[in-house]
Amino acid sequence: MSQHTQTRRLSVPDIYARKGGEPIVALTAYDAPTAALLDPICDVLLVGDSVGMVVHGLPSTVPVTLDMMILHSQAVMRTSQRALVVVDMPFSSYEASKEQAFANAARVLRETGATAVKVEAGSYVADTIAYLVERGIPVMGHVGLRPQAALVDGGFKAKGRSEHEWQKVIGEAKAADAAGAFAIVVEGVAEDLAVEITTTVKAPTIGIGASVQCDGQVLVTDDMMGRFEWTPRFVKQYGNIREVMREAAESYASDVRARAFPGPNQVYALKKS
Ligand code: KIV
Repeated sequence: MSQHTQTRRLSVPDIYARKGGEPIVALTAYDAPTAALLDPICDVLLVGDSVGMVVHGLPSTVPVTLDMMILHSQAVMRTSQRALVVVDMPFSSYEASKEQAFANAARVLRETGATAVKVEAGSYVADTIAYLVERGIPVMGHVGLRPQAALVDGGFKAKGRSEHEWQKVIGEAKAADAAGAFAIVVEGVAEDLAVEITTTVKAPTIGIGASVQCDGQVLVTDDMMGRFEWTPRFVKQYGNIREVMREAAESYASDVRARAFPGPNQVYALKKS
């Protein structure tokens, strides 16, 4: 079944209960028409801070602001009814203190109507996750390749391929789990590590560049639709939207130049009086 008929929005317990069960289908959405299209197909719509790179052409997710996340999330909420919508907390909106994280996460939920936030879960963030969850804010964790750490890491690098990194990442996943994260994104890690995290933590794992054995999968929609010439190696392209757009634009341009557009069906006739 690729489309669901249920109209009630999936809840945090619904997603948590999917551990070891039906795989969770997640994709990113940043705008209203995309959310409307994906909502009946996906269980989770993630308003990822990847919006900064995908939509705004930024070199990383670091410059993304809370206001940008809220604006895009409001658009996604307007046209989705079924999927659980999770909003990424952008860089510098949650790391300074638990209180800062609570104030900003509460603002996100209040101003968007989304159900949950996601934080990149370095070990120091575990206390913050517990603080938010205790105060009523559902949190999804994100371990492994953490795009917001790109400046420290010197780029987007797969994690957990050495013993030291393996222990670090599994420690972060366990800490996020113990702190009450309802799901954990596992990005860009050695496959065996993704499997170990999945079998160790109680929360469902959602893989991206991880393992088919994760409890669900997420991709950046524009990557899997073939919007870009380059994508990370863990992306499977399920479409070629770039070519569809290019062909449509070229057909339009050639019609305009040949004075073939607008045709009789695209112009208005005078009203007969
Ligand atoms: O920002 C994002 O889109 C993400 C996914 C890649 C998991 O965090």
